[in-house]
This record gives sequence, C-alpha cells and structure tokens, in this order.
Amino acid sequence: MKKEITLKALDTNKFIEEQVNAIRSLVGDGVAINALSGGVDSSTVTMLGHRALGRRLRTVFIQNGLMRQDEAESVVSIFSGLGVNVEIVDAKNEFLDSLKGLTDPEEKREAITTTFYKKVFGRIVRESEARFLLQGTILTDIDETVAGIKRQHNVFAQLGIDPQEAFGYQIIEPLVQLRKDGVRAVGRALGLPEEMFNRIPFPGPALAARIIGEVTAEKLETVRKATLVVEKALGGRGAFQYMAILHDDRVTGVRNGKRDFGQQIEIRCWDSIDARTATPTKLPFEVLEKMADDIINEVPGIVSVTYNITSKPPSTIEAV
Ligand code: XMP
Repeated sequence: MKKEITLKALDTNKFIEEQVNAIRSLVGDGVAINALSGGVDSSTVTMLGHRALGRRLRTVFIQNGLMRQDEAESVVSIFSGLGVNVEIVDAKNEFLDSLKGLTDPEEKREAITTTFYKKVFGRIVRESEARFLLQGTILTDIDETVAGIKRQHNVFAQLGIDPQEAFGYQIIEPLVQLRKDGVRAVGRALGLPEEMFNRIPFPGPALAARIIGEVTAEKLETVRKATLVVEKALGGRGAFQYMAILHDDRVTGVRNGKRDFGQQIEIRCWDSIDARTATPTKLPFEVLEKMADDIINEVPGIVSVTYNITSKPPSTIEAV
C-alpha cells in the first residue's frame, strides 16, 4: 500500500502533476468514468481526472432523489463553469422504490448502497466503453473498512462486476494517500470554488439519513424544505455540521385556531473536529427562534421545531 501523505508533507502542485501523469499513463487513449456526488472527494477526483483526460473522462451525477434542493443542478453548473461536462442520470424512482416499506436505518443504508452500485452505476459502467473507474477513496475510508466501521471497500463487488468476467476493468484511486484536509488542499489547487472544497459533511444516504422511519417522496420534500431553512440560517457560522431531521411521530399543534396533529422537525448543529466526538453549538436564542418561525411558515405540515442539546457520545451526529 502507498504511504500516507500528511497535509504538512503535501506539495499540492507536485501531487497533482504526479497523479495526472499516473492517470494518463494508465488510461492511455482509453476512456474512464466516474460518479460525482458534489462531495469534496468526488469533486476533487473529477477535477484531477478531467485535467488528465479531458473529454475522455465521463462524469455522471446520479440523481437519487435524496439530494438537497437544486443540488444536482447546482453541482453540474459549478462544474460546467470549470469546463467539466457532467451528465445527470435520473434514478429517483429506482431509489424510492428500493426504500419502500423500510424503517430500519441499516436496511435503508443497504438499499441505497445496493441501488447505487449494483443497479444504477453498475449498469452505467457496464454499458459504457470505459474500462477505467476513477474513485475518490481516501485513506480514512480504507482505515474504516479495515476497522469494520464501513461496508466492505471492494468496488468491483459493490458494482456486481465479476473481475474475471470483466477482465480489463481497472479502478484508479488517486486520493488514497490523503486525509480530508489534504483532499481539500488539492481540490483548492485544482480550482474548485470554496463552496466545494470546504463543504460541510453530508452523508452518502443523503436526506434518507434525515428521515426517521420510512422514506417517501412527501417526507423528502418536507425535510428538503426544512434543510434549506437550516442551511441558510447556520451557514457561515463556523459550525462543523448542521441539519434538519424529520421525525416519524406526530404531535398536536394549533393552526388558525384549529387543532393540527402535525409533524416535527429537529434541528442539530455541531461543533466538532473530526466527527468522532461533537458538542451542540451554543446558538443564540434569536437564531433558533427565527429558524423555527421560518420552518413553520415555509414547510407545510410542521407544528413543532426542536433543537438537540445532546453531545456525541452518546448521541451520533445523524439521527438515523
Ligand atoms: P455519526 O452519525 O455516525 O456521523 O455520528 C459521523 C459523520 O459521518 C457522517 N455519516 C455518514 N456518511 N454515510 C456517509 O457517507 C453514512 O451512512 C453516514 N452516516 C453518518 C455524518 O454526516 C457525520 O459527518
């Protein structure tokens, strides 16, 4: 395995040049493919691959329907501004169907992973001419796989591709020697705008991780609207991560003089260095009040807004 490159030891320009050369010599005059989510790792790998291969890198953004408001369009437009063409593949219904009836957090995660790799991306890769997959795996992903925290990090198996049968496929992981801070530095040096290289963490299962209980199109719309309010209110305050969570149980409220058995949103805002431990941010009460007002006014069906004041541990950052 290649050696770790710490942020201190990282010479971003030299790293970029070496990785670009390595990608070029591996792919030759072939075609490579990658999936972009808009997260720091996949964005950085897209820029590296594009620098190495230009149009011979095919980048797809899989619209799983679990993303935030206008997320796909905004990522595609940022990359278009950087001269990188990104293709949106609409797979909303496949993801929603796979989540139908599931309430257990791990079953929901498993359904999303399987739909992504085995069905949607697997199909795109098999149908493409590409024989090279560019992946934004970082050193922390490898550590977590070895420690059993993450699912098996075996992309071929995840894609449902038998390496024997698919002889000739090759995975390229240019970021495996880096941690997140190094990736951010490389992303910045590659010209990613700050909103991309400094993004707050967002989980792979996306808004499905912010809905307690079954994920439906209606609940996604509700949590998406609440997320918009929370991200607008809490962005730029230096918090590590912040989110809106839609609860499964209802509470009685009053709207226009009438009792309304409505839904609840929980807001979380975290101070943390590395997500391993975290404490709730001591937000000014006026900020909390304003968020509650905006959510009640802008998100249909919500009658209760709460702020979580528990630390991790025993809480986790996400609720699902
Ligand atoms: P927890 O909730 O475990 O989260 O305290 C720690 C960090 O990891 C993110 N997270 C996930 N990321 N897939 C991901 O890609 C997941 O299933 C997942 N669950 C949690 C979370 O947002 C936080 O930054």
